[in-house]
Amino acid sequence: MTPILELKNITKIYGDEDNKVVAVDSLTLSLKRQGVLLIMGPSGSGKTTLLSMMGCILRPTNGEVVVDGQTISRGEGQPYIYDDVLPDIRKQYFGFVFQSFNLFPSLTAVDNVGLILRLKKHDKRKIQSEALRLIERFGLAKRANFYPSDMSGGEKQRVALARALAGDPPIVLADEPTANLDSKTGLDVLKLLRELSEEAGKAIVIVSHDPKAEAIADRVVYLEDGKIRN
Ligand SMILES: Nc1ncnc2c1ncn2[C@@H]1O[C@H](COP(=O)(O)OP(=O)(O)OP(=O)(O)O)[C@@H](O)[C@H]1O
Ligand SMILES: [Mg+2]
Repeated sequence: MTPILELKNITKIYGDEDNKVVAVDSLTLSLKRQGVLLIMGPSGSGKTTLLSMMGCILRPTNGEVVVDGQTISRGEGQPYIYDDVLPDIRKQYFGFVFQSFNLFPSLTAVDNVGLILRLKKHDKRKIQSEALRLIERFGLAKRANFYPSDMSGGEKQRVALARALAGDPPIVLADEPTANLDSKTGLDVLKLLRELSEEAGKAIVIVSHDPKAEAIADRVVYLEDGKIRN
């Protein structure tokens, strides 16, 4: 089976000649359709940059990003998938979970999920029930109508997971999803991500410094100066 995502020799350079930073350096990686890939590495090693290029929200300076067999990007200044279809590709293929939850503070838990379904053009009549189903799946039935400010860190991160799954994307990208959680809550979130890969058959990519994450990963990649350490 073709991988769901392939990075072919990708490089990301920030800045200009005088203050050039090679954040990701000629990296090749392919992602299976199901399983948990863990990306570890010191601060500044390029993890977030790599994840952003995987999710097609940051364009590589060089190299190719291939999503489900479609070449999305051949790097800056090269032919590029039409900018007008790129937002649809992002919506169809990716769910994101961030370190800082990134929930909309003025929306309740269920509406945070519903908003994403709306953006993904889900059937309007089913948005509320589907959002509730996702919220309940993550054990948040009693928090559905709470605002983020009235929830614990673990609850907020579970809302963020529910939101990442809205629209059933095949790939979920999580950047330090346990960084703002205590050890026990962090482990619960990691186990949920593991379950998602197994039960829902998703490709999950987790960036983490958390040693607990190694236990739930199928594969671990260590980044150092933008390269995979062998
Ligand atoms: N927008 C940007 N402009 C310029 N340099 C950047 C930018 N974003 C990141 N960098 C640089 O690129 C390198 C990789 O950054 P990145 O954020 O990918 O690292 P990271 O591994 O995610 O680090 P952390 O563990 O601290 O989150 C760093 O040297 C960083 O300073
Ligand atoms: Mg980072």
